[in-house]
Amino acid sequence: MTTQRADARILIVDDEEDTALLLRDVLRKRGYHVEALLSAAECLEYMRRDPADVVISDIQMPNMSGIELCEQLYQRYPDCAPIVLTGYGRLDTAIAALRAGAWDFLTKPASGDILEIAIDRALEEFALQREVKRLITERSSEEPIEDMIGESSPMRELRRMIRRISLTDTTVLIQGESGTGKEIAAAALHRLSSTRKEQPLVAVNCGAVPANLLESELFGHVKGAFTDARSARDGLFLQAGRGTLLLDEIGEMPLDMQAKLLRVLQQRTVRPVGGDDEIPFEARIILATNRDLETEVEEGRFREDLYHRINVVTITVPPLRSRPGDVLLLANTFIQRVAARRQTFVHGLSRQAAQLLMDYDWPGNVRELESCIERATALCRGTEIDVGDLPKKVVEHQSTRLEISTSSTAELLTLDEVNQRYVRQVLAAVGGNKTRAAQILGIDRRSIYRRLEPTTPNS
Ligand SMILES: Nc1ncnc2c1ncn2[C@@H]1O[C@H](COP(=O)(O)OP(=O)(O)OP(=O)(O)O)[C@@H](O)[C@H]1O
Ligand SMILES: [Mg+2]
Repeated sequence: MTTQRADARILIVDDEEDTALLLRDVLRKRGYHVEALLSAAECLEYMRRDPADVVISDIQMPNMSGIELCEQLYQRYPDCAPIVLTGYGRLDTAIAALRAGAWDFLTKPASGDILEIAIDRALEEFALQREVKRLITERSSEEPIEDMIGESSPMRELRRMIRRISLTDTTVLIQGESGTGKEIAAAALHRLSSTRKEQPLVAVNCGAVPANLLESELFGHVKGAFTDARSARDGLFLQAGRGTLLLDEIGEMPLDMQAKLLRVLQQRTVRPVGGDDEIPFEARIILATNRDLETEVEEGRFREDLYHRINVVTITVPPLRSRPGDVLLLANTFIQRVAARRQTFVHGLSRQAAQLLMDYDWPGNVRELESCIERATALCRGTEIDVGDLPKKVVEHQSTRLEISTSSTAELLTLDEVNQRYVRQVLAAVGGNKTRAAQILGIDRRSIYRRLEPTTPNS
């Protein structure tokens, strides 16, 4: 399959207008759709509206260099081939560009013939890659992912997304409330990445490592870097090899480390503590957090530049209350797991117990459900878990789902209660995303918290 030359869209990026226009005209004469742009920023802006198939960029440009542009294109537009134009004999910049994700480099001045060959090669290769990806995704998108249970539509969509991302090398941000399965999602992404799955999956909880040790833990240290550093040690970025590094609880990383991490992600190299050398790393970086990073940025706890850097490909693991259909599936799986581990006769749930599990909100998500089932299995005297085996909070819980279908005045709600329940329901529907919920509710984000609190008599 070949992308027809007439369909292919090419962008030329050069801060020297004469050069940009000249190249544009040369290629237009050869039958390509070409636009000339004068900066990397213009190119990214253009790509947002109308992604091109090939970007041919100069390297030295003010503000954002062609190398940085390649990196951004590589991460955000896997279907676009970035090609750089380097000065004669500048092998170092050519290598830097290839590392940053350039597909090819050409030396200046590049003749029309040379450009044409490079473009056609890129178009053919990318068309082939797209076809292969399409076939792989098509074949496997409905297959289950081991350990990732859930048949609700948000979970199916999540699996599709993970499969798609597994074909790329891009940095990924996983967001989701506590206990929703972010680590499970990260592990699935690692296992599905055919080029990485044989390599290590290294995970670190950024909130659990003492702030003064985090830098050497992540980037390593040289011998004698500090009192206890009797020998040099690789950090986790290097220990992960060509595998995956999960930076968990990234929202808890101290601000000064955030600045260092930003540099590392931009340059794709680490500098061990006490050392002078920059060492390239090859692991895919996954970041996970249960905090709403947008709020963290607003409140000055998370660097805005780092947030923009990592918020390119984002996976949001939906809370359990937004997928009640998965509750019983998960509960039954956990019952079977317990049965396989210990000798129990429990093999299911009574109808009332099942109903209570489905009505409950699961603020602790899958983790809470898992421990609820473990406990219930231990308490259960028969073959089915019953109401009496469930925790009190599950049994006494009042559904937050808004259904005003009762005719009994005793069951009718006050406006405040309706208000609260509706806010919860909207939050659940948008996967806990407060910005989105606030938009829907037509209130500002901060007042969401206020509305969730019970009203005091004098307020
Ligand atoms: N889809 C799923 N299928 C099966 N088990 C799951 C699923 N999602 C989560 N779990 C289980 O729930 C528990 C919590 O999952 P995990 O540790 O991945 O959550 P998390 O989002 O990383 O939570 P936290 O924010 O607290 O770190 C684990 O025991 C995990 O095995
Ligand atoms: Mg976790």
